[in-house]
Formats: sequence, C-alpha cells, structure tokens
Amino acid sequence: MSGRINLLAPEVRAHPYAVYAELRRNAPVCQVDPGGYWVVTRHDDVVAAFKNPQIFSNTGMRVATKPEWLGHNPFADSMIGQDPPNHTRLRTLVNRAFGPAALARLEVRVRQFAEAIVARIPEGQVVDFVDAFTLPLPASVIGELIGLEPSLHARCKRWADDLTSISANPQDEKRREEIRATVREAETEMAAVLARRRLEPREDLVSDLLQARVDGESLGDAELMSFMFLLLVAGLETTIHLLGHCMRFLMARPDVLERLRADRSLLPRFVEEVLRYEPPVQAIARLTTAETELSGVRIPAGARVMLLIGSANHDDTRFPDAESFNMDREGVNNLPFGHGIHFCLGAPLARLEARMGLDVLLSRFSRFTSGGPLEWNHSFTVRGPRVLPVVAHAQS
Ligand code: HEM
Repeated sequence: MSGRINLLAPEVRAHPYAVYAELRRNAPVCQVDPGGYWVVTRHDDVVAAFKNPQIFSNTGMRVATKPEWLGHNPFADSMIGQDPPNHTRLRTLVNRAFGPAALARLEVRVRQFAEAIVARIPEGQVVDFVDAFTLPLPASVIGELIGLEPSLHARCKRWADDLTSISANPQDEKRREEIRATVREAETEMAAVLARRRLEPREDLVSDLLQARVDGESLGDAELMSFMFLLLVAGLETTIHLLGHCMRFLMARPDVLERLRADRSLLPRFVEEVLRYEPPVQAIARLTTAETELSGVRIPAGARVMLLIGSANHDDTRFPDAESFNMDREGVNNLPFGHGIHFCLGAPLARLEARMGLDVLLSRFSRFTSGGPLEWNHSFTVRGPRVLPVVAHAQS
C-alpha cells in the first residue's frame, strides 16, 4: 500500500469532486494511484502547465501508445503526442481543413443522424441510452468525418476502445493480438478511404486534408493516417460521455429540463455548464522535461503528470459556488477542451453534436426518468456512464 489516494477507487469514481476539493486545499500537487502520477488540481496551476509545453511535454503519449509488443501504431505518431515545432506544422496543416466550412457541411448530417437515431428510441420502456443514443450519434459523425462507408460506422467504437486500451499495457497475449488486429483492420479501411478520395475528391474533410498546403508543404501519407486515427480516438469516447452527462442532468433536474423545453436557445448554456461540471476528459497527461514547481511543490524531471481538468473546473477561486449546477454563469473560463497549443480541434463539432442531439431529443420526448443504476466507465482520463438506463416519455 502506498498510502496515496486511488483516483480509480469505485467510491472516488462515483463522487470525485469532493476528493478533488480536498486535494486542492491540502495537497494541490501530489502523487496518486494508480501509477504514481503527479496530479495538478488547482485551476491556475493547470492553466500554467497547459501554457508551458516546453516543460510539460506531450511526448509521453507517444511512448505509452507504442509499446514493443504492439509494433506499428499510426495513432502513436499523431500530433497530440508531439511538441513544437512538429506539432505546429501539423496543426497548421489540419486547421485549414477543419475550419468553419467543414463544420457547416457537417451540420446537416449531424441533424439527419440525430433524427434517425432518436426516431428508433422506444418510448415508455427502459433503454440503455449509451446503446440507443450517446454512442450511435458520435460514431456516425466520426465515421462520416473520416470518410468510412456507413456500414463501417458501428466498428468505430471497438477500434477506439482497443486503441485507447494500449496505454494500459495489457499483459494477456490474446488481448494483445486483438489490438494488433484492430490496428491492421482500421489502417486497411482508412487506406482505402485515402485511395478513393485521391482518385475522386469529394466535398469532405479527407479530400480537403489531401489538398492542404502550407508554404508548399502537404501532409505525408503516414501523417494523414495518424490524423485519421487521432480523430477516431479523440472524437468518439469524449462526445459519448458529454451526451451521457447531458442525459444525467436532464433526468436529475426537471427544473432545468422545463427551462430548456420552454426555450431551446438555452441549450448552448446548458451544454457549457455540463462541460464545466462533468468534463468528459477529466485528466490530461504530460511528461516533465525538467524539474519544475507548481503551488510551491517540486516536480522532478521525467515525471508523469496528470492535469486534472475535473478539479480545475470545480475550483471555487474561479467558479463561485462551484458545486452547484448553474447554467446562468457568465464569462466562464472553464477547461473541458484543454488550453493552449493542443486546444481541442473538435470542440465546435462536439458542441454542435450535443446541441443538435438534445434539440432533436426534446422535440420527441417531454421527460426522462432513470431506468436503473448507472455504471461508470473505468479510466483515469475520461469519465462517463458505460451503461445508462433511461425511460424516455413521449410528449403528452
Ligand atoms: C484535443 C477534449 C471532442 C479532436 C483535446 C484536448 C482535450 C479534448 C482536453 C487537449 C489534449 C491535450 O492538451 O493534450 C475533448 C472533449 C470532447 C472532444 C471533452 C467532447 C466533448 C473532440 C472531437 C474531435 C476532437 C469531436 C474531432 C472530431 C481533437 C484533436 C485534439 C484534441 C484532434 C488534438 C489537438 C492537438 O494536439 O493540437 N480534446 N475533445 N475532440 N481533440 Fe478533443
């Protein structure tokens, strides 16, 4: 026993915010279990670390996602695991293809997907909302974004799960072979998309990425592939959990639901407060390149650090009465999508999926009640319901 707090203990997973508050007060930078990570809990310290990529490097991700047993893994070389100047070059290139025009194109598709998915939800009976709503919507959107045929969209979740489980370093050879098979399968399908778009460009993200040029430079084949892998991993689980948390609040707060039903223009405020209160990405990993200090605590060089967004978003020095859910907050400086050079590229898309998905849900159903106990996922970095039993009641 290390005597450290275990952030994956079931009682902490169910109610992490009281534990974070205790850490902010008494041990704002300390080591925790599992893994002996150094956690940073105060809002200002988390922002300071995000702003200092020279000391708080993203390269730890590369090491964690390319263990020897796996061999080749395009995701490991994506820009989220890179520091400047390579990160700057890649980000500048993909920014061109991931701008407002791409979002406007997707808007129509997100609504079509949401309408088809919501139409299939049975009313008045217990349904796992992860299966029925929170998973299929982002899976369809990501599948479409990376150019996969609709028949392959359902595979995206398994691929993303297998890719994210690499950093947990499974010891079982059977599991390792499953993951190697997933990397091969996903790469084959994505290579086919790239080949098709090269021959016949369309009005879509992959075609735009193939054309993107900055100072005459374009993305190489391996870079394109690793970016598609990154979109799959970064854009799926996160958005599933955002939708799951939105549903939890709609069930728990009938007063909030009534306000939203009466005035849909409040949906963006609702989504923003859900993102503050229950950020789907709770922790972001960094690796220190030199000894440093935060809140007076010395962190050694080579330390594996977790910036606790979940704690920063509940810091009452920044958010008065932080433990109450209040969608009337003004000028919120919250960190669900990170901060600085790696700020989430998909933030506008995630917000769009949530707003539109909820809008379509509220058009069909008047209220939502719990259909049984929720099961939490098991991860240090993302937090959300793995099983979410809900009864959806039709408009009366
Ligand atoms: C980066 C959160 C949805 C693509 C990030 C980061 C956070 C985050 C915290 C910063 C990582 C770091 O600093 O190392 C979220 C949340 C989402 C979401 C909470 C949903 C609610 C999406 C979607 C996409 C996406 C839908 C794309 C389709 C990315 C990419 C990066 C990123 C490409 C890396 C940016 C870089 O390294 O410069 N996201 N994300 N995310 N996200 Fe998201």
